Amino acid sequence: MAPVRDHNTLSNYDAWRTKHTTANLKIDFAEKCLRGSVILELESQTDKASKEIILDSSHVNVSSVKLNSTPTSKWEVKERTQYYGSPVHVVVPEGAAKGETVKLEIELATTDKCTALQWLTPSQTSNKKAPFMFSQCQAIHARSLFPCQDTPDVKSTYDFNITSPYVVVASGVPVPGEPEEKEGGEKLYKFQQKVPIPSYLFALSSGDIVTAPIGKRSVVATGPNELKASQWEFQDDMDKFLEAAEKIVFPYKWGEYNVLVLPPSFPYGGMENPIFTFATPTIVSGDRQNVDVIAHELSHSWSGNLVTSCSWEHFWLNEGWTMYLERRIIAAIHGSNAHFDFSAIRGWTALEEAIAEHGKDHEFTKLCINHKGIDPDDAFSTVPYEKGFHFVYSLDRLVGRENFDKFIPYYFNKWAGKSLDSFEFRDTFLEFFSAPEYASLKDKISSIDWEGRFYSTGLPPKPEFDTSLADVCYELAEKWKSKDYSPSASDISSWIGNQVLVFLNAVQDFDEPLTVEQSQSLGKTYGLLDSKNVELKSAYYLIAMRAKDSSAYPGVADLLGQVGRMKFVRPLYRNLNKVDHDLAVKTFEKYRDFYHPICRQMAEKDLGLAGSSKSP
Ligand code: BES
Ligand code: ZN
Repeated sequence: MAPVRDHNTLSNYDAWRTKHTTANLKIDFAEKCLRGSVILELESQTDKASKEIILDSSHVNVSSVKLNSTPTSKWEVKERTQYYGSPVHVVVPEGAAKGETVKLEIELATTDKCTALQWLTPSQTSNKKAPFMFSQCQAIHARSLFPCQDTPDVKSTYDFNITSPYVVVASGVPVPGEPEEKEGGEKLYKFQQKVPIPSYLFALSSGDIVTAPIGKRSVVATGPNELKASQWEFQDDMDKFLEAAEKIVFPYKWGEYNVLVLPPSFPYGGMENPIFTFATPTIVSGDRQNVDVIAHELSHSWSGNLVTSCSWEHFWLNEGWTMYLERRIIAAIHGSNAHFDFSAIRGWTALEEAIAEHGKDHEFTKLCINHKGIDPDDAFSTVPYEKGFHFVYSLDRLVGRENFDKFIPYYFNKWAGKSLDSFEFRDTFLEFFSAPEYASLKDKISSIDWEGRFYSTGLPPKPEFDTSLADVCYELAEKWKSKDYSPSASDISSWIGNQVLVFLNAVQDFDEPLTVEQSQSLGKTYGLLDSKNVELKSAYYLIAMRAKDSSAYPGVADLLGQVGRMKFVRPLYRNLNKVDHDLAVKTFEKYRDFYHPICRQMAEKDLGLAGSSKSP
């Protein structure tokens, strides 16, 4: 048997592979659970005919199992192991010859320990009319929805048959026709995903959801109160992003590309669920300054969703490539490479910070992180994004843009529908550039230290950047080093939001914190406290906390009750905890139920309240 490539699954996916999944699930808002059945069609991979199928599961109640449509009692949910859950073992008495498929039908219900779902009561939604639910499966939370081979190395097509009293959105294409009426005012919503996808891209959401067009192939879906603003935020850029991406890689393969704007407790900026990207409402900032998140999630349609890293160890293949494509799209839209470099500079600073935080020799600062015995949520950081980006970008610069542009479609085409590791990526690159027309690049290519790139800790080599958009930010920051600088709103009035962020980050990195007076004047003069842009507001609060401006702490606590995006929540808690531990803990207790389960667990760890966190 080939060595197992993914240490974060307990499934025996070397012996069996899921080819098709049918999810027949009822969304039970009263009980806050999904119940129904999942049918897995698993293909035998070996002639030795494995007589057992092992699936991942985590806190799922399994009530019965059918094997090839016949009830069987030969199954067992084994004891829970740390991080990876309770594997479900099903005996297949006769096994199956290589290439043959068996069908497992599993009756199940999710439990209140499910880490993939958040349930909101009507009072927790903005129009208070209906409850709301959504899923977030990446990295290994799909197993808490239903037993499955929860590894990005296995891809399956899907049928979704979802019953709910409210509109349902899923990571599949709606089956044409009106949803079928069911008893009690419920409806059956059907979707299909014909492109094979890994389990972490399975997604559902349901609630009072309405839609509006934002492009030729795109709608935005969200609550009625949020619809107009969300439509305005994206409608100018959506088609441009799609067209730019298609030019860089190749035509979009999924049919529709839509965006679901979620309630504020959504724990990420965006999640690239196929057909429907799930997004935080913090990107609807009324200034179109955060749409790069959409360019990012759209890019995953190629890097991640079509071509997938085979385990979380090679996660950079998803995120590093996606950062690269995102920046290429942004540069194409602006018609200027300065925007590519500006975003890359921001990324570099974020990478420096992430590496400093881990410690430069930490395992988590490697491009390929050893995930044996690790919870992928713990290893998650900027490193795979920005170290990954810098690796891809270094290859682009090494061979030259024109040559690299030919490699991009070759790579995505070769691995479309499949999953790969870093070495397969290396081999694909070497294979492409071994063609006679690239003979002149031979020495350059053989100089690449692949192992070093994959496994060294700390910062990679720093490239030269075009700093034209960043220089003004650093110049203004420099002025703030003098205690008597008197600022004016016009300092930043012509800037884009990200320039203000670069400036704020530079101030945050000063050797000395600002004085309380300086910090207050910065917030006031530049209107940061009234900003609807949470990126800016939270960056400002980090400065204010470093300055120990206690008048800002109540505002920090309020913000922590308004957004559940971990990018903001975690640094705000970590810093509030340093300056006012009691307020930090009190605030967390107050808003505990507002946060998504993953965010709650992470914030608990950040506040040192863990112990009660992840059950083993
Ligand atoms: N796929 C990620 C989100 C994710 C990663 C969820 C790992 C769970 C585990 C998504 O594409 C992402 O990177 N989102 C970023 C957006 C940003 C880089 C533009 C985010 O959430 O901030
Ligand atoms: Zn991403």
